[in-house]
Amino acid sequence: MKLGVNIDHIATLRNARKINEPDPLMAINILKEAGAEQVTIHLREDRRHITDFDAKRIIESSFLPVNMECSINEEIIEIISKLKPHRATLVPEKREEVTTEGGLDVINNKEKIKKTIEKLKSNDIEVSLFIDPDFEQIKASKEINADMIELHTGKYANIFLALNTNINYTPFKIYENLDRKTLKKELEIELNLIKDAAMLGVDLELEVAAGHGLNYQNVIEILKIKEITELNIGHSIIANAVFLGLKDAVKRMKEIILKYY
Ligand code: PXP
Repeated sequence: MKLGVNIDHIATLRNARKINEPDPLMAINILKEAGAEQVTIHLREDRRHITDFDAKRIIESSFLPVNMECSINEEIIEIISKLKPHRATLVPEKREEVTTEGGLDVINNKEKIKKTIEKLKSNDIEVSLFIDPDFEQIKASKEINADMIELHTGKYANIFLALNTNINYTPFKIYENLDRKTLKKELEIELNLIKDAAMLGVDLELEVAAGHGLNYQNVIEILKIKEITELNIGHSIIANAVFLGLKDAVKRMKEIILKYY
């Protein structure tokens, strides 16, 4: 199981002071030493964390493959095509959201995403689509020649959080009035959906990654799904790095991966 660490929030912290530290580029050597196999960054349209300058420096000098998340906005795709990361992961993007909510709607944006994939591939960039564990979205991803899919684990993570804490963060607070028994059932349904979606992806000869909202606790069940061969994890690792240091925070995730995968 490959671990990609999303380092956007190192830039979030730097930008809070609008100065030059902490520098996300400095994270890469540490990620490598700790056993991560990939670095993931998201060049958002509003540049709220990673900037164009960060992306350029990271792609030019990273010892690890760079997985670049981005929207299908034409200006952004033009930038990515020139930067040439190892992979582009296409994600939906809304300016008002706190984080990427929901997967890309491939079915209703087929032609645009298809053209975007063609452009990226013609620039020798592998393309992954960040989608919900939805069978029709997976089939549509295959039809338009994606190399890979990343299954959105945000709903699973939100139910897990609602079940284990008093936090009920979801855009719509959909779990607010559910009792524990119902939440457990919902968790199982979502987990089975991720499992079946991963199996369908492999059947269609797509590489299958997963990510969003994963942490040391909720990742364990995801690791039991053997069809998933890559995880991209950001917020929780960077949050734990505040207390443990980045190297140990990544190492701890790697240890869990080795134990349960
Ligand atoms: N994968 C994708 C496609 C994402 O957009 C994100 C969030 O930027 C992640 C993984 C990581 O999510 P988290 O920060 O919640 O671990």
